[in-house]
Amino acid sequence: MLRTMRPSRRCFSVLSSLKNTAFEIEQKPVKAKAEPLSEAQNAYLERAIRVDQAGELGADYIYAGQFFVLANRYPHLKPVLQHMWDQEVHHHNTFNRWQLEHRVRPSLLTPLWKLGAFVMGAGTASISSEAAMACTEAVETVIGGHYNQQLRCLSNQYELQWTDGNRSPTQEITLLTETIRQFRDDELEHLDTAIEYDSRKAVPYMLLTEGIKTICRVAVWTAERI
Ligand SMILES: [Fe+2]
Ligand SMILES: [Fe+2]
Repeated sequence: MLRTMRPSRRCFSVLSSLKNTAFEIEQKPVKAKAEPLSEAQNAYLERAIRVDQAGELGADYIYAGQFFVLANRYPHLKPVLQHMWDQEVHHHNTFNRWQLEHRVRPSLLTPLWKLGAFVMGAGTASISSEAAMACTEAVETVIGGHYNQQLRCLSNQYELQWTDGNRSPTQEITLLTETIRQFRDDELEHLDTAIEYDSRKAVPYMLLTEGIKTICRVAVWTAERI
């Protein structure tokens, strides 16, 4: 369990100092010995699970909104949207399980995330299919960067525990890291799909993508805390 391991404060300084969005994360070796986490580490992990559950819930509802508007209007997009939506449902269900198993309080703004995400998906899809794909490109860019930041943070915990000599991550941390890495790869696949289906032909492209990225960053910051 998350509550049975030992402290690492470096994670928090890394989290606050990371500004770039590079997508490649190097995997570190993992030892199997379990150590207790500090209160601060547990608080970080709870926040990570809370924001990731809220984010995947949002993605689920964005694709629901897009599918609702576009599936019948553009039959060639239906399987593409269905595939991405199915993956988001899987991500959402996975973090629902993490949240329940580790008794992490959900974001208090969950109803707002649901409504806002559906409106964002359906609203951009109502402009055009390219605008819907621009929405996907913007969302997945922010979420891909967000997952990379979490992976760096968790990776740094490993590094500290490894070099200290007598600390090591538990299987729970390893599993969370693997889950986030897999989901990050899925999000980047969605990003590529959005570009392939003409996200960059959306009008007005810059306004849509930069506006949606800002909304997503504010939502991530808020869901971590509220
Ligand atoms: Fe996702
Ligand atoms: Fe996604």
